[in-house]
Amino acid sequence: MLETVKYLIGSTGASGFGSKSTAEQVTETCPDLRFVTAIITGATSGIGAETARVLAKRGARLVLPARNLKAAEEGKARIVSEFPDAKIVVMALDLSSLSSVRKFVSEFQSLSLPLNLLINNAGKFAHEHGISEDGIEMTFATNYLGHFLLTKLLLNKMIKTAKESGVQGRIVNVSSSIHGWLSGDVIRHLGQISRSKSPYDATRAYALSKLANVLHTKELAQRLKQVDANVTVNCVHPGIVRTRLTREREGLITDLVFFLASKLLKTIPQAAATTCFVATHPRLVNVSGKYFADCNEARTSKLGSNSNEAARLWTASEIMVSIDPKAVFDPRNGFDYDHM
Ligand SMILES: NC(=O)c1ccc[n+]([C@@H]2O[C@H](COP(=O)([O-])OP(=O)(O)OC[C@H]3O[C@@H](n4cnc5c(N)ncnc54)[C@H](OP(=O)(O)O)[C@@H]3O)[C@@H](O)[C@H]2O)c1
Repeated sequence: MLETVKYLIGSTGASGFGSKSTAEQVTETCPDLRFVTAIITGATSGIGAETARVLAKRGARLVLPARNLKAAEEGKARIVSEFPDAKIVVMALDLSSLSSVRKFVSEFQSLSLPLNLLINNAGKFAHEHGISEDGIEMTFATNYLGHFLLTKLLLNKMIKTAKESGVQGRIVNVSSSIHGWLSGDVIRHLGQISRSKSPYDATRAYALSKLANVLHTKELAQRLKQVDANVTVNCVHPGIVRTRLTREREGLITDLVFFLASKLLKTIPQAAATTCFVATHPRLVNVSGKYFADCNEARTSKLGSNSNEAARLWTASEIMVSIDPKAVFDPRNGFDYDHM
């Protein structure tokens, strides 16, 4: 109750920011980002577009991977018209396809750019059950597994950049408070949403992908620490905001839900604030494996803080992105999740 009141009045937390802080406000005192190269996924609209705009305003060079290149070029043009010195590269990437992720990384590597910041923001809320070309449930494939592989393939570059520049690298995973909807066994949930025979629960599938973002953050932070990498990883809940995320569910009911929840909604500049805070704020040096909401550290769900589940999901993800997925993939039944 008290938390809701604090949220509604925008009361600030230990960071000095709160639910009503905007991305511009939280980056006002951030260091000069002119020497920072950032990859931001999902910057063609919503929270990602505002994140890109504000980081460009602060001087960062941006690489914007997108499946819709026309929308990404239009987004780039909007930013450049506001900040003519902005350096922005648009590249092709469909996160639901593991081969597209590999192609993007190989093309990015060929640019010989450094990489200080990776913002895994892209996301979808699918209405219908779908399976990716790699045999993975579509929401999970897009929101989590594509980002898992992207991060894995870019990690050495980030570690090398941090070593050479002396500036700590940061990874930000955009999750959601909806991750707390699920309890129990994460791989069992994955098996359930993957089977096309059982009725598809779109909200559960979305919640699972966002839980996976949280568990990914936890396990990756641990692994980065073990190898003494000067790179941190944290995840965020941006808050609730009306964007194109609900595009497959547009209609009277969605309008009504947003109308009833209107007092709880953020604006897009407010929703991009936590990502920008975690990506740039000096007080978060050496902070890793944490979850943030309204620009302050917050608690994940019980399952979201379970190290065993984080490790299991990591192992399963390694198998799913492995060079020969067919080894464990049965085209008729999907992955054998029961034995992961
Ligand atoms: N809005 C909220 O209330 C809310 C709440 C909690 C968490 N979040 C999270 O915030 C993040 C941003 O969402 P948003 O609200 O800003 O939604 P949005 O406006 O729909 O933006 C989503 C972005 O992801 C991109 N994307 C989707 N599928 C992709 C794919 N297969 N490959 C590459 N890019 C893909 C979209 O690109 P296209 O232009 O190609 O579609 C778009 O740029 C998501 O991770 C979402 O889960 C949002």
